[in-house]
Amino acid sequence: MKGIILAGGAGSRLFPLTLVASKQLQPVYDKPMVYYPLTTLIEGGIRELCLISTPQDLPRFRQLLGDGSAWGLSIDYREQAKPEGIAQAFLIAESFIGKDAVTLILGDNVFYGGDGFYKAFADFKGGATIFGYHVNDPERYGVVEFDGEGQAISIEEKPKQPKSNYAVPGLYIYDNSVVTITRNLKPSARGELEITDVNVEYMRRRQLHVHRLSRGFAWLDAGTSSSLHEASAYVQTIEKRAGIKIGCPEEAAFRRGFLSLDRLDALTTKIPKCEYREYLIEVVAEARRLSR
Ligand code: G1P
Repeated sequence: MKGIILAGGAGSRLFPLTLVASKQLQPVYDKPMVYYPLTTLIEGGIRELCLISTPQDLPRFRQLLGDGSAWGLSIDYREQAKPEGIAQAFLIAESFIGKDAVTLILGDNVFYGGDGFYKAFADFKGGATIFGYHVNDPERYGVVEFDGEGQAISIEEKPKQPKSNYAVPGLYIYDNSVVTITRNLKPSARGELEITDVNVEYMRRRQLHVHRLSRGFAWLDAGTSSSLHEASAYVQTIEKRAGIKIGCPEEAAFRRGFLSLDRLDALTTKIPKCEYREYLIEVVAEARRLSR
């Protein structure tokens, strides 16, 4: 399974924050936003990654994440010259995807909690797996409607009159036919290759599985000033209460077995003195204690 992080767009809803740094580099509490979706993919067991961003912002992401080898990952980079839709990612990254299945995550989506969540990655056999999450403001999102048996019967992009309260979060797992499906899409009225049209096509083929996220699971998007602030407040609350970090790629890579304890230890010592370093020192110390 390959993984794509889409971190493009003009970030116009966060102006003037985004005048000098892209949306996905803004802080969500104590880390750059992109750390969260990156960590979600690592937790899902994906270590071959491709980050897509604008030609202006790509150098910054490279500076932040490098080639991923320090964390036991490989990270490729590709440019999205113009914002022509989420699904365009599959065409831009076609050579990266090769013959594999692929998970796409949006760079401003934060996921937290729920043991069943990662099962969706492990259980994936083919077709498409997307998620449904109950929200207050479905008209801002792709919206999925279910029948009495829990089967998805419609998906609409930002409908004025939503048929349900279930939004489709920016995390999509597809088999390799997503590339051909995208190639055959027509741009929507707003001139974009819509991810919702990809999902509708999988639904038409009866190959769409919609995993409803349970109550208690947190899905946040951080694309507007208010939602950015709310995401930060949420992360701070959980981290402070539980003494754990959300969206810590080093820790996730270690727990997934991509990074040995000694390598985690070595890279922790290179981090300047800060809370993030203190946290990782604790992770290393606890793992050493448990392995004795
Ligand atoms: C996009 C998708 C939408 C999805 C949302 C999740 O919307 O088009 O279907 O529900 O991401 O964050 P956008 O963020 O581009 O408005």
